[in-house]
Amino acid sequence: MRRRFLTTLLSASLLGACTPEPPPEPAVAGAPLAQPPVLQDLNPADGIVEVELVAAPDRLSLVPGTETDVYVYNGTFPGPTIEVQEGDSVVVRLRNDLPESTTIHWHGLHLPYHADGSPYDPVEAGEDYTYAFTIPEGTAGTYWYHPHPKDRTTWQLGKGLFGAFIVRDPDDPIPAEIPERLLIVSDNRFEEDGTLSFPEPGSREEAIDEQNGREGDVLFVNGQVMPRLELRPGDVQRWRILNASGARVLRLSLPGHTFLHVGSDGGLFEVPVEREEILLANTERVEVLVRGEGEAGTEVVLEDLPYDRYRPLYRPAGWDATRDVLTVQYAAGPPVEAPTIPARLREVAPTPYDEDTPVRIFRLSQGRINGQLMDMNRIDARARLGDTEIWEVRNLVGMDHPFHLHGFRFQVISRNGRPVPFLSWKDTVNVPARETVRFVVRYTDYPGKWMFHCHIVDHEDIGMMGVLEVEGPVP
Ligand code: C2O
Ligand code: CU
Ligand code: CU
Repeated sequence: MRRRFLTTLLSASLLGACTPEPPPEPAVAGAPLAQPPVLQDLNPADGIVEVELVAAPDRLSLVPGTETDVYVYNGTFPGPTIEVQEGDSVVVRLRNDLPESTTIHWHGLHLPYHADGSPYDPVEAGEDYTYAFTIPEGTAGTYWYHPHPKDRTTWQLGKGLFGAFIVRDPDDPIPAEIPERLLIVSDNRFEEDGTLSFPEPGSREEAIDEQNGREGDVLFVNGQVMPRLELRPGDVQRWRILNASGARVLRLSLPGHTFLHVGSDGGLFEVPVEREEILLANTERVEVLVRGEGEAGTEVVLEDLPYDRYRPLYRPAGWDATRDVLTVQYAAGPPVEAPTIPARLREVAPTPYDEDTPVRIFRLSQGRINGQLMDMNRIDARARLGDTEIWEVRNLVGMDHPFHLHGFRFQVISRNGRPVPFLSWKDTVNVPARETVRFVVRYTDYPGKWMFHCHIVDHEDIGMMGVLEVEGPVP
């Protein structure tokens, strides 16, 4: 408590009038939107996906006209997309050619403890590690992978290590003729010469990052600045959007259009919901259907509207600016007829609970959970395999904290005591300033030690994290 209070006072007085001005927005709308390469399956057998990832330093041009020293998977930024089907067995061989220890965490996937890539299983520089797991039925959705080394996630994610992991349902209810685009949105911060900008230890900038999480003024979609996405008038596209930034919350709007929101972290809803905007905390994912309302030859910009997730004292300059994400360009030619979208997508079976279901309470303060910093040798919560529990996450402070649980997907049931309108599968839920969220989770299988934490990566690194141990027979 004392330390935090002092830190707050100190950095507040250092802030003064000289909060760094964000450099100007990247101007030129660039190249056609690329899709990250899909990682090649090395195993010809049906139902087995075997892939290789090499994490290594590289030098790439991220911002036009400059080069940047990065860390990447298989030489690409973002890393290659891993595509599998429900029921597949997945084997990923990681080779760590970084000059430091790393892990790969399969964010949102339900898998055995030692395949989770948590800080309990570090892969040292020069070493290999094999992650093996099976994709459960009913989990089709958009996931992602990123490093999770102890205290170093902000650095390694910021250096460029992340990629998408898509689980497909062979009976996907969304018609296959609807073209699909993956949009991995990330942000970063650069020096003028293209070097990635990280704060000096002990600097004012570091104190601000510790509060807000590291945000960058340059927005990328699939590693491109302001790419162009082509849409035919009248046509419908399915966008899988992943917010892979370390802290930024996206509030997406496409002027003149609505989004048909069809899914979240763990896949499709039961029924689509029409929305003006999509709010997407870092690490969350959505699936939306976008219908081309524009006329041939016109353009419209996908925008990131301001979202106030900050404590008033630390709101960065320019937080209230609208940022451009990508340009939607309407193709020439006559409008096409949109395919029919099913009114019902799939069943999302409610996780059963009642008034006897145990409720665990987690109090979030700035950088701590229940007043404590992470200790890998401490177990913060114990449960048995097969248990169902309600987690009540109370955010006691004046900024948002996106709360994430490893290993087990959950269903949000209420916000500030009010039931949510419909169920969906989530692995991360944004808990806005001074609000309380309840979710229900069942520990279906896989005993082990599972992290739960704030997914603002700076908070995670500081220790805003705890450990749930699920005990039971090892399969
Ligand atoms: Cu993206 Cu511990 O998680
Ligand atoms: Cu995770
Ligand atoms: Cu946080």
